[in-house]
Amino acid sequence: MKEVLILHGPNLNLLGEREPEIYGAMTLAELDERLLQEGEALGLKVHSTQSNQEGALIDALHEARGWASGVIFNPGGYTHTSVALLDAVAAIEIPVVEVHLSNVHAREDFRGRSLIAKACVGQIAGFGWRSYQLALHVLKGILDQEEGAT
Ligand code: DQA
Repeated sequence: MKEVLILHGPNLNLLGEREPEIYGAMTLAELDERLLQEGEALGLKVHSTQSNQEGALIDALHEARGWASGVIFNPGGYTHTSVALLDAVAAIEIPVVEVHLSNVHAREDFRGRSLIAKACVGQIAGFGWRSYQLALHVLKGILDQEEGAT
């Protein structure tokens, strides 16, 4: 079974409590459980991790090269500021799908700019937890295609 990393960035540990009108009522543990099950249904083994530290996110991306076929990455606020995370995504050859719970393009102007997007295969934003669900389906398609399946 192919393995994928779901990487959650800063402040996403507070999902469910944090601005629920923007990010929803689901906790991170509930989100990860759904994604685990969704992955299983797709034939993907999902591993989730969260960090508030930029360096830890970089390390997780580097390590993913050794074991993951792809990454789903919500860089949180670092999306809009981090050249180091852009470089980390660019440095790894596996596909990285950028996700956001909220519609970053319909919020403050600075949120509409992603430094990371340039190195990602694509971005999914605005569908709440379903942004991650969509990303899993997209990643499954990309990995199947890489393998020569349809
Ligand atoms: C977010 C959007 C970012 O702008 C914000 O800083 C977050 C969460 C999202 O999932 O909607 O922390 O990445």
